[in-house]
Amino acid sequence: MCQKNKKTFYITTPIYYPSGKFHIGTAYTTIATDVMARYKRLRGYDVRFLTGLDEHGQKIEEKAKEAGKPPKVYVDEMAEMAKALWKRLDITHDDFIQTTEVRHQQLMANIFSKFVENGDIYKGEYEGLYCTPCESYYTESQLMKGMCPDCNRAVNRVKEASYFFNMKKYANRLIQYYEAHPDFISPGFRMNEMMNNFLKPGLEDLSVSRMTFDWGVKVPNDPKHVIYVWVDALTNYITALGYGSDDDALFNRYWPADVHVVGKDIVRFHTIYWPIFLMALDLPLPKQVFAHGFFTVNGEKMSKSKGNVLDPDMLSNQYGVDAVRYALLRDLPFGQDGDFSSKAFVERINFDLANDLGNLLNRTVSMVNKYFKGIVPLYAGCVTAFDGELEQFIAETVQKVELNFEKMQFSLILSDIWALVSRTNKYIDETAPWILAKEVENEAQLAAVMRHLVESLRQIAILIGPFMPTTTHQMFEQLGIKNEASQTWASLNQYETLPEATTVIKKGIPIFPRLEIEDEVAYIQAQMSKDADFVEQVDKEVVEKGEDAPTIGIEDFTKIQLKVGQIKACVQHPKADRLLVSQVDLGDETRQIVSGIADHYEPVELIGKKVVVVTNLKPVKLRGELSEGMVLAASADGKLSLPELIDEMPNGSVVK
Ligand code: ME8
Ligand code: MG
Repeated sequence: MCQKNKKTFYITTPIYYPSGKFHIGTAYTTIATDVMARYKRLRGYDVRFLTGLDEHGQKIEEKAKEAGKPPKVYVDEMAEMAKALWKRLDITHDDFIQTTEVRHQQLMANIFSKFVENGDIYKGEYEGLYCTPCESYYTESQLMKGMCPDCNRAVNRVKEASYFFNMKKYANRLIQYYEAHPDFISPGFRMNEMMNNFLKPGLEDLSVSRMTFDWGVKVPNDPKHVIYVWVDALTNYITALGYGSDDDALFNRYWPADVHVVGKDIVRFHTIYWPIFLMALDLPLPKQVFAHGFFTVNGEKMSKSKGNVLDPDMLSNQYGVDAVRYALLRDLPFGQDGDFSSKAFVERINFDLANDLGNLLNRTVSMVNKYFKGIVPLYAGCVTAFDGELEQFIAETVQKVELNFEKMQFSLILSDIWALVSRTNKYIDETAPWILAKEVENEAQLAAVMRHLVESLRQIAILIGPFMPTTTHQMFEQLGIKNEASQTWASLNQYETLPEATTVIKKGIPIFPRLEIEDEVAYIQAQMSKDADFVEQVDKEVVEKGEDAPTIGIEDFTKIQLKVGQIKACVQHPKADRLLVSQVDLGDETRQIVSGIADHYEPVELIGKKVVVVTNLKPVKLRGELSEGMVLAASADGKLSLPELIDEMPNGSVVK
């Protein structure tokens, strides 16, 4: 056994599907996890922080095909993209796992075999409604208006031989576990959801293999079957530690996990299936699963088709990484849903960071320069009438911050730290150093004020460290704090750690830019709605073809020329997620047509399809791509379908 001399802390993000560009929702999970990992390191824990990609399954196979790449090439490229983004956002993961790595595949397949040996997996037949984008089966009653309850897309009826995991066997044990560990799921209301919606009504056995595609790990000794992505994915938390390998030192050191951070949409997988898999392996369960809420953008669900997907890289380039990390965690209580408003985002940077914190630092540095030639006065206890109160406020803040870190309440932590920033600004008004400076006899008081300001800023710099590591560093630099003992979490509330000659920099440099709020809001909106102009146009077309269209005579109808066309080639529009660009054979000519149907059809599905085309529409350019005509489609309630045509009709036939 390995000797533990430090307390360990094992924290994970979900492993993400590499099915598209990452957005602020993805970044939100990872930044929050990083903040927690950094905090625990500051508290002296031996931390292990794991993130990675969930690379198998039909959805990824299709994405790779769309991109025209072999799946492994595609996922490796996405992994590089993800790692670059995490680097950009100052994420300090200790390991990045890809489920296509050999180290995972082998150990995961061994786990599957172990389930089989123990009699927890049996072979049967599955019939169900499957949603490919969500990689999930649903029962008839779980559907919403016949569509996938999670993403509102069409589901397919699938019938196949399948391996099943005997969930029923463990259901009671899990219920008892919940009852004995009320903190297992946070926030607590999520535990009630799981209990009432899934455990109490009775668990179904889970289908854990697929035959409909083969981008995945084969079932040992039955290679026609591929192991279900969620078995593949969840086990990453232990295969990454070498569970079941020759070298399981990491596993012994870090398992059970202290917390799995997940979005609310994947709570069920982490709090029902995963604990049951672990029970079947006779392993301890993670101490906690923390489910955060979802971001909407300016009140709307964030989605590529709405064109309101925000790129965290763009935001960081424009405003700095620390500002993004701060603003994402500042308002939304961790665990609740909330809105990302571009105005609130810009205002937070301007008011909290540039004004409140930036000014405080600037004023302090310039006063220490002006009154004490830049040398921070020695600590002489509480001298002015306000010093004791400020020290008290700092002590209380530290206490609240530490408490809220244990609950992962990041928005509360930041609001408490900013209350201290305000309190310190108020301390300047109360003590009015510019008045003290007028009388020589007040020098001791003036010195105490300067010392307390530097101390308050030093402690604020430490407190914000998990959130804004670069800012912490810049603050130390401007304050002249170089010795390590004054930079540690343990030095909070200690007033005599600064060496005698501590000298602030000559001239303070603003740590955050002051922004023109309206300009920046417009900038963010423009970045967000890069796709939206199209979407509007497409939506408008749909509306204009709505029910209360006026009746027209045959002479109007005959103005519209309709022909049978056949899609010969089709690709995703390079600049708009909702659009597809097709080459349509119209018998005597081939035309390029752009259609807003990417949410409903994959380009590969369309190749070879016969469609009805309006051929005498005025050509337009849609985000740079010429469109000469329009493909007819039926649409209702977010569903869309191309009319079926008899295949023998030659291309170019007139429709009337
Ligand atoms: O679910 N706001 O991966 P994923 C906040 N591969 N969080 C959001 C969000 C939003 N708008 N959109 C997505 C998977 N997320 C699986 C996990 S773990 C063994 C396997 C969050 O890429 C979402 O809730 O679809 C989830 O936690 C994470 O992004 C990854 O989602
Ligand atoms: Mg998802």
